[in-house]
Amino acid sequence: MAPNGIGKTTFARLLVNELEPDSGVVIPHGEVRISYKPQYVRDLAVKHSDKTVREYLAMAVGNDFMSKIIWPDLANGLSLTPPLMDRELSSLSGGELQRVVVAGSLLKDAEVYLLDEPMAYLDIEQRVRVASVIRRIIEERDVVALVIEHDITMIDYLSTSVMVFLGEPGRHGIAEPPTDLRTGMNEFLKNQDVTFRREPPGG
Ligand SMILES: Nc1ncnc2c1ncn2[C@@H]1O[C@H](COP(=O)(O)OP(=O)(O)O)[C@@H](O)[C@H]1O
Ligand SMILES: [Mg+2]
Repeated sequence: MAPNGIGKTTFARLLVNELEPDSGVVIPHGEVRISYKPQYVRDLAVKHSDKTVREYLAMAVGNDFMSKIIWPDLANGLSLTPPLMDRELSSLSGGELQRVVVAGSLLKDAEVYLLDEPMAYLDIEQRVRVASVIRRIIEERDVVALVIEHDITMIDYLSTSVMVFLGEPGRHGIAEPPTDLRTGMNEFLKNQDVTFRREPPGG
């Protein structure tokens, strides 16, 4: 929960060893199995532009991805319809691509699902469906999802605890330790309020 440019994506990339910390150790490599959904899914479509959705999921998850127990629920919740499965990634809209990539991450076996803005480019109805699919899967598998999300109603629906990022966008950011939802919400809203009062209208 934070403004843009504060370092949420940077934090996620540190967790999956895509970036090296300047000091200290984040998570020793390989100690926790993390399935990561990066913020910018368009990069994946460029990289795999000639693959169909079916081929992409087979590559990301394994050829048997449709026999996974969660597949029917996921396909339904993320609207992965038969015609969509045979489209090439390069032809998908932002929202379609998002749903495919989120499905790919959730189909992988992991202890932690790290999803950076999994509801971006989706309309409100789809956002709710994605949120409920994430929630069901996490509860059924007894695993953890760390979701980066702006929409406070989605955070409220999805989360049992939250991390608030404070600081100045583009300059410095601090990841606060996880707290319960209520404490985190209050902390976040308090800081929004401070920012709001300090800045003149339109400034
Ligand atoms: N590899 C990098 N090197 C230097 N600066 C970066 C790099 N990646 C992101 N930044 C900058 O760090 C800040 C935080 O970015 P990011 O983690 O993407 O924020 P958020 O996800 O919270 O919107 C931004 O100002 C961004 O431009
Ligand atoms: Mg980001």
